[in-house]
Amino acid sequence: MKAKRRAVTASPRVAEQKYPTSPRRPSGTGRGNSTGAAIRPSSGRADPPMPVRAGAVDLSVQLGRGLVLPNPILVASGTFGYGIEYGEVVDVDRLGGICCKGTTLKARVGNPTPRVTETPAGMLNSIGLQNPGVDAVIARYAETWATWIVPVLVNVAGESVRDYVEVARRLDGVPGVAGIELNISCPNVGAGGLQFAIDAGAAAEVTAAVRHATDLPLLVKLSPNVADIRPIARAIADAGADALTAINTLSGIAIAPGRGRPLLGNIYGGLSGPAVKPVALRVVYEAAQSVTIPVIAIGGVMELADVLDFLAVGAVAVQVGTAIFADPTLPVRLVDELAAECGRRGLTSYRPLIGTALPKKPAQPSSKGVEYRP
Ligand SMILES: Cc1cc2nc3c(=O)[nH]c(=O)nc-3n(C[C@H](O)[C@H](O)[C@H](O)COP(=O)(O)O)c2cc1C
Repeated sequence: MKAKRRAVTASPRVAEQKYPTSPRRPSGTGRGNSTGAAIRPSSGRADPPMPVRAGAVDLSVQLGRGLVLPNPILVASGTFGYGIEYGEVVDVDRLGGICCKGTTLKARVGNPTPRVTETPAGMLNSIGLQNPGVDAVIARYAETWATWIVPVLVNVAGESVRDYVEVARRLDGVPGVAGIELNISCPNVGAGGLQFAIDAGAAAEVTAAVRHATDLPLLVKLSPNVADIRPIARAIADAGADALTAINTLSGIAIAPGRGRPLLGNIYGGLSGPAVKPVALRVVYEAAQSVTIPVIAIGGVMELADVLDFLAVGAVAVQVGTAIFADPTLPVRLVDELAAECGRRGLTSYRPLIGTALPKKPAQPSSKGVEYRP
């Protein structure tokens, strides 16, 4: 298994380069630095970020708080397990980042079956965050992650602010954990089950609480199931997120054959795949103009053209999700194709591709919400 072989052979120097020391955590805390670099506990000195190059093209991505991705192609949460599962077919260290399966405080068995179904140009899933709980995730996978070059971001979910904070605390300082991606598209039990992601105040509250609980780089994942993403994006950025990721799935249902009931055991599922790309483009376009922190795009990436579209609307990186089920080798191929595309255009960095389709002058904030005219 490729991933395992690397676990044995990766040199400490290579591991050292992957996450520069967090500027915020004092040295000598005995827990390593914020990005899991307990591999080098004694130094306390911040190394300059090491740009990682694919050939002559600099594809590295600075996400803040010392987190540098080797390239802008990540794999999306829930579609690549914990990274280990794909070790036979994918050289994980060629990826820009891995967002692992959604992780909660306690183990979850997930939703009743059926949990997935195909849709035109996409799929619906209602996995229900099946996972073994944060302690088991750390025990089973973190040691291997710590030997990889690729940064692993743990996707964190919860049902209360306290849940999120406790999971973040347990991940803080664990070698192999490079950062947290907060999945806030979860019902807030204390607020009658309303999702954190659909309310700017609730989204900011959970972001700020996690921000105080950990020095790990903090990415917060936006839901598309809102009328206007801009105030929510701004509230999350103001609450201390280092980057935004967008989008999570769109809420939908499918009907069972015979039409006597909804098809999924949970009734509702999340729509993903090429069908959601225009929505993701719109959300990224709006979020990128609303905040100064980096935005990472997710939604229907199938080929290089999709990556280029998301960069054009202001994303600094993209995550590949549903497409992995059809072809797990796609994300690594996209890294090579992006580097080749930059080479063809005579670019030594992919960065000139970012934001080319954004308005030249920042758009005025709207009071009307999403700017479409049906
Ligand atoms: C089977 C499946 C499971 C998912 N699980 C999670 C999850 O645990 N946490 C999360 O934040 N997003 C989860 N997602 C959403 C994806 O990370 C991604 O945001 C979404 O699928 C859109 O990207 P795509 O069109 O490339 O798949 C899941 C998606 C799928 C298809």
